[in-house]
Order: sequence, then C-alpha cells, then structure tokens
Amino acid sequence: CSFLKEKRRQEVLEVLCAGLARQEYRGYDSAGLCIDGDKPGQPLYFKEVGKVAGLRKKIASSSVDVEKTFVSQVSIAHTRWATHGPPSEINCHPVRSDPQSNFVIVHNGIVTNSAELRLVLQKRGYKFETETDTEAVAILTKYIYDTHSDKNITFTDLVKAVLKELEGSFAFVFKSLHYPNEVVTARRGSPLLIGVKTDKKLKVDFVDVEFAGQDSDKRVDTLSPTSPTMLSVPTVNPKVLRTQSRAFMSEDGLPQPIEFFIASDAAAIVEHTKRVLYLEDDDIAHIAEGELHIHRLRRKEDGDQSPSQIATTRSIETLELEIAAIMKGKFDTFMQKEIYEQPESVVNTMRGRVNFDENKITLGGLRAYLPIIRRGRRIVFIACGTSYHSCIATRAIFEELTEIPVSVELASDFLDRKTPIFRDDICVFLSQSGETADTILALRYCLERGALCVGVINTVGSTLSRETHCGIHINAGPEVGVASTKAYTSQYVALLMMALQLSEDRISFTERRNQIIAGLHALPAQIKKILELDSTLQQLAATVSDNKSLLLMGRGYQYATCLEGALKIKEISYMHSEGILAGELKHGPLALIDENMPVIIIMTQDSLYPKVQSAFAQITARKAQPIVLCNEGDEGIPSGAKTIRVPKTVDCLQGLLNIIPLQLLSYHLAVKNGCDVDFPRNLAKSVTVE
Ligand code: G6P
Repeated sequence: CSFLKEKRRQEVLEVLCAGLARQEYRGYDSAGLCIDGDKPGQPLYFKEVGKVAGLRKKIASSSVDVEKTFVSQVSIAHTRWATHGPPSEINCHPVRSDPQSNFVIVHNGIVTNSAELRLVLQKRGYKFETETDTEAVAILTKYIYDTHSDKNITFTDLVKAVLKELEGSFAFVFKSLHYPNEVVTARRGSPLLIGVKTDKKLKVDFVDVEFAGQDSDKRVDTLSPTSPTMLSVPTVNPKVLRTQSRAFMSEDGLPQPIEFFIASDAAAIVEHTKRVLYLEDDDIAHIAEGELHIHRLRRKEDGDQSPSQIATTRSIETLELEIAAIMKGKFDTFMQKEIYEQPESVVNTMRGRVNFDENKITLGGLRAYLPIIRRGRRIVFIACGTSYHSCIATRAIFEELTEIPVSVELASDFLDRKTPIFRDDICVFLSQSGETADTILALRYCLERGALCVGVINTVGSTLSRETHCGIHINAGPEVGVASTKAYTSQYVALLMMALQLSEDRISFTERRNQIIAGLHALPAQIKKILELDSTLQQLAATVSDNKSLLLMGRGYQYATCLEGALKIKEISYMHSEGILAGELKHGPLALIDENMPVIIIMTQDSLYPKVQSAFAQITARKAQPIVLCNEGDEGIPSGAKTIRVPKTVDCLQGLLNIIPLQLLSYHLAVKNGCDVDFPRNLAKSVTVE
C-alpha cells in the first residue's frame, strides 16, 4: 500500500496484516512484510514461516515504535507458496537486492530464466542470500541501476529495463531506497489490481496508459550466461508515443489525500475501497505523491499497431464484493460455510437467466455468440482440478442436447500435447478463480489459433473473464476454502444452462429440456434436504477414517461424481481416494477389493442402474461391504447395506446432488483426522504458476 495521508505505523502494519490474512485462502507457507524504518528509505522487515497470525505475533513482540507517524509511506507484504527454495524465513518475501536494501520486491509467479540471471549476476560479483527466483530480479534491478549511464533514470524506466530481461509469469511490487515514497508494480501472467481510496469523488474514472515506444521494448540479448562478459546495460528509450497519464484530482480540481492498495486479489483490499483498476499484462504502474501513472510495454502480438489502435485506458471499476461474503459467519471453516451456501449459490447462478414459467434460458453473455457456437465443429472444455470435473459431469448432456462433439481437456495436458485447434472450434474455459496459470496459457493458445473462446468463471474481472470473447459468470460468490465446493455445483448449473440455451431451437428436445428445467427448479430444496444428512455423514466418516484408502465407484453421469468426491477426500483429509469408472472394474480395480477396502458405490437410478447393480454384485462377491449412495425409497438396494439416500432428480442433474454428501463426508474425514480444512497442506486455492 502507498499512502499520502498521515498514518501511524501501527495502522500501516494492520492494513498489511489484514490484507495478507484475507488472502490466506489462496494457500501459502510463509508471510512477510517490509515497511519504512525511522530514517527515510530505511526498511524494516518482519518475516515468519506459517500463518499470518505468527507474523502478527512477531510484530507484537518486537520493539518497533508503532506510534511513529508517516505522511507518505510505501509498505509491501506477501504470502509465499514455495516454488524455488523451501519455505523458510530467508526465502520469505519481501526479498532485497543487498543488505542495505537498495531494492526490495515481492513477487507472485515464477521467473523461468532466474537461474541464468543468477549465474550472470554472480559472475559480476553479486551475492545471493536466498534460493528464490525473485532474488535474481531484485539484484538485477540493482545491477541495472548501478551501471546505468543516466543516474536520473526514473523508477518506472528502471523497472521497464528489468522486465525486458525476464521470462515466465509474474506480478511484482518494487520499493527502493533511491526512490523513497515511490512504488512501481507490474504484471505479466499473474493477477494484479490497484485499489484507490479517496475521501472525495474522483474527477476521472479511468487512467490513461502511457505506451512505451517500440524501440524501448528490445531485449538486451547480451545478458545471457553464454556471453556473460558481454553484459551491457540496457538503455531505455525515453521516447513515448503517447503521454496522457493523469493524476487523481477531486471534482473541485484539488489534489487530495489518497491511498493506493496494490493486491493480487480484491479480497485483500475490499475493506478499504471498492474502487479498483485491474492491470493487464505488461502494464507497469507507478505511484508517487498521490499520482498513479500506468505504462505499458509493447508486446509481440501488438505487431505494428499504433498505440491508438490498442486499448490505452484502464477503467476504475466498482467491486461488488461484500466483506461479509468473505467472512466465516457461524461456520467453523470456509469450506463448511460454502457447502451450506449451495442452496442459494445455485439459485444465484440461475438468477435472471432461467424463466421457469416459460421454460426459457437467457444467458446474456453468450447471446451474440450463439449462432457461432451452434455452427462450431466441436466444443473443447478446458480446465483444471474441480473445474475439470464439472466438464466431465456435463459432457454427456452437452453432446445429447447440442449434437456437437465435446472433448474435455486438462489444461496442462492440452498444452503439453500442443493439441490441434482450429478457427471453427469452440473452446470453453472453466475456472473458479479465473487466474489458473495453465488455463490462462491454454486460452492464449486457443486465441492465437482463432477459436471462439468462452469463459465460465466465478471471479469477475479475473484474467480469464477479461480475455475470453464471451461467457458466463457463475455468480457463486467468493469461494475461500481451497477445496472447491459451491463453485463446482454452480459450474455444473452454468454448463447445463449453456447446453439448454444452445438447444432451444430444437423442437425434438422440448420435453427433455422442460424436464431438466423442472429439475433445476427443484434443486435448492433438494440440496437443503441433503444437508440434513450432515450428522449421519459425520458418523460414517468416523467408521472409515482409520482406513488408508477409500474407493468411489460409479458410471455414466456419476463418473465425474466419483472423481470429484475422491479429489475432495484426498485434498483435505490426506486419505488416499480414487474415483473408479465401474465399467473398468474388471480391468484392474477389482484387484484392490477385499473385506478391508472401504468402497462407496453410486447407485442412483438412471439408465445405467442395472450395470451398476452388477458392479455391486461383483464387489460384494469379493467380500466388500460397500456404502451405497442411492435414491430415497429405492427398494432394490440389498438389505443390510449401508446407504446414503438422496432425493431423485433428472439423470443429468443427479451428479450435482450426489456430490453434496461426498463434500460433507470429506469435510468430516478431514476434521476427524485433525487436518486444516480450509488450508490443506501443499495446496493453493489459485494456482497462478504453471
Ligand atoms: C486448485 C484448487 C482447486 C481448483 C483448481 C482449479 O487446484 O485447489 O480447488 O479446482 O485449482 O482452479 P480454478 O480456479 O481454475 O477453478
């Protein structure tokens, strides 16, 4: 954060710690911050491995003068999820360029050429103290500053020169001894936004972007380990094609007390301001003296376009996020709260889009693109984790209603295979966060190949939601628990609505469509009913929690339920769990079955029911004692079998109901095993690195 308003150091520390705590859900292993010390520019650090609560304790027990006031102050903080170098105090951010802290940075992402940079800089005599990729960037900044011919180089130009040397994905914030009260922040591939807080109304609600000239965008090829002796200092071409950046002024035209909050996630700043500006790739923002200026480096894909052909404004948007929406309320954990929110979150997904009286679906974000989608030669769903499972869950109904072939891809594998994509492909990107690095890379890959790219995203303003051509916001509300729950059920509903809308012109499907829309209508009440099974599932969890493994078996629509249920169990309770397609039983999994192996078999009634009955017979013949997830009132389940009974709905919606008891079961297994439900070890909510 950067202030131009008198603040006590205590207040500044509180803003930072609270902001970090609000981002805890993203998953991290250490936290740190750097604020101004008593002399201008002199930094003060606090770092701690583990939770933000530990960092707070460390600050409280230090002798730092918390009453000292500052009129202007640049303070940076970070929660780290280790990529290069294990979690430790030394590897924790902010990272400095040298013991005097000439430059201090925080970084989200991975700099993939950091090893080369490190080598070059070490040869130049620079010393490294951490194992992080980030330190190479801090030291490179100092190197460029030390050796630059123009000692009056601006902080922005210095950072531009640094960025041109970097490969990979990043969001950075830079602070420096040489530029007290100035902060520079930049992104490429990782999310970044700036919150603006003023007491008065702003005169402008956008910021013009200063576009760096083409010449200044040349990489300094000599900075390579193969020719380290050639290392030269990049010169930054000051030529700027358009300069119209404006300071923030109040309506009366006077400069005013202003605070800026830079964050990778709106949750971190929403309690201070709802006015935010999302930075785009290759944007560099400079904040000083209450002014914000945004610069953008020219990208390869800009080609010869002049700045006037490229969007050169960033508008200031008003967040709709309410702070209450990211609080736990009466629940013990965010995950539990989010499981319980599902009767409302599915309604929010449908709100204003499903007309139950007329059996009509209207998805405003897709309307203009429906003819193109209907003409598409295939639909490719691309996603990671739980979002991927929502694609598997709805693939069959999509194919049935649209009669367009659908393939489902894990984003990382899709990229690894360099999957052929064509102009008449419709690529649909599913993501809760809208910031998953693999999914973003897959989107850019498809955009380059001219496919129509559709987003089905929860987070408004996220990279995926901005960069897709059109799409659906699932409107499930902020999801904080690392294990996705309500986003899954809302993605499920959103994809079904999309399939329904695409098939609205097919008379032969009218009855089927009406049946599904009636199913959607009944969902909230049915979910509520399943939530009443909570204590039964808690008891069931106690009976299996000592086992090493738990198998989930089903077929057809329920294969996705098995995969998603198993993912929930392994990610938060650390128990091994596997989703098995019952049709594959004889091809391997049957070997795992004996009287000690707990199995959940999904036997809700649809056209594949007889086939699942035979799978049931095969495993019970091998002495398994399966727990049967079945419909209420189903008399066909052998007496004596343990059952989880759920209401019946239309076949393609049954998976949405069936996942809820499995979410609850995984939750209770995790609690029983003493696991940190919202922050499972080694996992992050939003995986913004490849
Ligand atoms: C991480 C999260 C999962 C999530 C996956 C995809 O692995 O822990 O809960 O399903 O990322 O995230 P996305 O935000 O793209 O849906």
